[in-house]
Amino acid sequence: MPDSNRSGKVTVVGAGFYGSTTAQRLAEYDVFETVVLTDIVDGKPEGIALDLNQSRPVEGFETTVVGQTTSPDGAGYEASADSDVVIVTAGLPRKPGMSRMDLLEVNAKIVRGVAENIAKYSPNAVIIVVSNPLDEMTALTQLASQFPKERVFGQAGVLDTARFTNNVATALGVPVRSVQTLTLGSHGDTMVPVPSACFVDGRPLSEVMDQATIDQLVTRTRNGGAEIVALLKTGSAYYAPSAAAARMAKAVREGSGQVIPVCAWVDGQYGISGVYLGVEAEIGRGGVQRIVERDLTESELAALKEAAEAVRAKQADVADL
Ligand code: NAI
Ligand code: 2OP
Repeated sequence: MPDSNRSGKVTVVGAGFYGSTTAQRLAEYDVFETVVLTDIVDGKPEGIALDLNQSRPVEGFETTVVGQTTSPDGAGYEASADSDVVIVTAGLPRKPGMSRMDLLEVNAKIVRGVAENIAKYSPNAVIIVVSNPLDEMTALTQLASQFPKERVFGQAGVLDTARFTNNVATALGVPVRSVQTLTLGSHGDTMVPVPSACFVDGRPLSEVMDQATIDQLVTRTRNGGAEIVALLKTGSAYYAPSAAAARMAKAVREGSGQVIPVCAWVDGQYGISGVYLGVEAEIGRGGVQRIVERDLTESELAALKEAAEAVRAKQADVADL
């Protein structure tokens, strides 16, 4: 008997570290009817799905996980048909010393094909992109799927903000729930941590920490992905990233208008137009309902504009990849 509290279908494309942990989190929420996990490696998504389903009696969830091997020409995508949400994790991760931008060409080929297949089989889906380089892959997914821009957005800000919050909480020795932070801009060198939007138990960050420490934590946040790549040596982070993407898919399902930082199409906000960029947005069942602008300091606004120009140039290039 279907449970009335459980509904909808979410597909995770790519069953690597990011995709498999995202599927696990989504299944354990127990709010979707079905989680579909796909990959081009024969048997990998089926094996992970079976393993996750066998955890259901222990974890106590009923969401069904379906694993499906696909091929780049679209074979196997029927299993994902009519998904409400699709999360794109397909693509190579970084190795130590690589920047996210080093992945541009190889991941563009993968992501373009994935986006075309999603558009064919799930024409009404909301797509959440996580493959790197994130801002460029989000723009490419919109171009290749031809979906309305509000139905394609990327995951970066929830993760980067979580890292900033964790950094501040750890430095101060306070619970993470006492700390509120924010990052905007790109998921790269022009990430814009926003100290003016950071509070510790309601007090501005600048009242509880000196500027040198804030600057240090901002830098650590900006390099948060690279710090983990350097430690892991064989891939990139996936626990915090999958937590971020799964929460975003849940926000779409709930359609409550929750405001979170995402890589969204910016059209005039902050005086910036025509680019996918990390901003705060209200998330509904149809994707981005509204970009939410806040008061930024002069230097934060300048940094956001600089980030927009940096990613704009690269996003123009992806059209030809
Ligand atoms: P991984 O190497 O563990 O997994 C990638 C998976 O994609 C592999 O299983 C591979 O077979 C699969 N794949 C390749 N082509 C495919 C296709 N056409 N269709 C379906 N699956 C395909 O890498 P991981 O750690 O899962 O990372 C995935 C991506 O997410 C990388 O590009 C990484 O840089 C990015 N990432 C983004 C973050 C963000 O905040 N936006 C954070 C962490 C990672
Ligand atoms: C991260 O931020 C590499 O984008 C990936 O962990």
